[in-house]
Amino acid sequence: MPKTKIAGIGYYVPKQIISNNDLLQYMETSDEWIQERTGIKERRYAHRTEETTTTMGVEAAKIAIERAGITKDDIDFIIFATLSPDYYFPGCGVLLQRAMKMGEVGALDIRNQCSGFIYSLSVADQFIKTGMYKNILIVASEKHSFGLDFSTRGRNISVIFGDGAGAVVLQPTEVANQGILSTHLHSDGESAEMLAMFNPGTHANHWMDQPAADFEDASIGQMFMSHQMIDKAQNFPNMDGPAVFKKAVVKFPEVISEALIKNNLLPKDLNLLIPHQANLRIAQYVQKKLQLTDDQVFNNIDKYGNTTAASIPIALCEAWEQGKVKDGDLICLAAFGSGFTWGSALMRW
Ligand code: ACO
Repeated sequence: MPKTKIAGIGYYVPKQIISNNDLLQYMETSDEWIQERTGIKERRYAHRTEETTTTMGVEAAKIAIERAGITKDDIDFIIFATLSPDYYFPGCGVLLQRAMKMGEVGALDIRNQCSGFIYSLSVADQFIKTGMYKNILIVASEKHSFGLDFSTRGRNISVIFGDGAGAVVLQPTEVANQGILSTHLHSDGESAEMLAMFNPGTHANHWMDQPAADFEDASIGQMFMSHQMIDKAQNFPNMDGPAVFKKAVVKFPEVISEALIKNNLLPKDLNLLIPHQANLRIAQYVQKKLQLTDDQVFNNIDKYGNTTAASIPIALCEAWEQGKVKDGDLICLAAFGSGFTWGSALMRW
């Protein structure tokens, strides 16, 4: 059975750089607080009207396809991971397929937030190994800047997130020392509300704490959004930051160790760990726990913030462009986020 290799990789970030100090015009915060708690110095924001999650994904995809030495017509399946889609539905996969004028190949959208890229990789790996597809395009893209609470109330979340996209082309390989060794996926829906955007949604429990009078506005079949929901910021992402942090520092090392143990390898064998860029403090904790050196871990959250599904392919691409990912290297990708969902992928480049 063939293994799956990354044949081409690309990323795109918008031109507009937003420093921590730029955020002071919207909320009470400080460069010192943001850097100390998250490691973020700046992030990118997409053009409000000319760029979307899909258009950024297209730019990353073009680079990945070119670097794979193929054309868009060779792609036989599309996987698109995002939590900030252009439309409520349909997903960004078909929008990208249309924008790139690709054939009528399948397009699948993955909704696993920060773990979206790892989940996408795992799904694609199964299709490649069974021989069903030969050139799978994975795109992970986020336009967070359009949907954040930029008031002081939302500062614990809005300072973290940035916009950007990453993409890879996956192909089968028969080369012995190359390809995905294993992927490991987990979830725990018990904590779903700890990091979530509730409305507009169809879950009645999030309506029930509203005064009955509110519902008089909503006719059957109408998506309901009350003033109270907006007052409670339920139209923005909500996060219990410390709770997410505590869970992340346990699950990251656990799922990385799971991948290493499965392949009879040790942390010292890793050439590079690329953790989802959630918070530099989380990455540093994981590094310490696994006793990894600075050279074994790649972080770029200082420049881009947390780009959710896109953070791993952006970081992997930057590391590769900087010559930090070489043929035969043992690379581990790992993520934890909303759901909670988490996972890892171990591969030989
Ligand atoms: N600027 C200034 N002060 C702030 C800010 C800000 N941007 N944000 C919060 N504060 C204040 C709070 O109001 C609080 O003040 P108080 O003590 O007077 O009440 C104080 O700072 C501490 O707040 P905490 O929320 O406890 O701060 P913490 O040190 O936990 O840092 C953070 C917050 C950065 C969000 C952290 O909890 C974190 O990174 N959590 C994990 C995030 C994560 O990994 N998310 C998963 C990925 S995202 C995804 O899946 C979509």
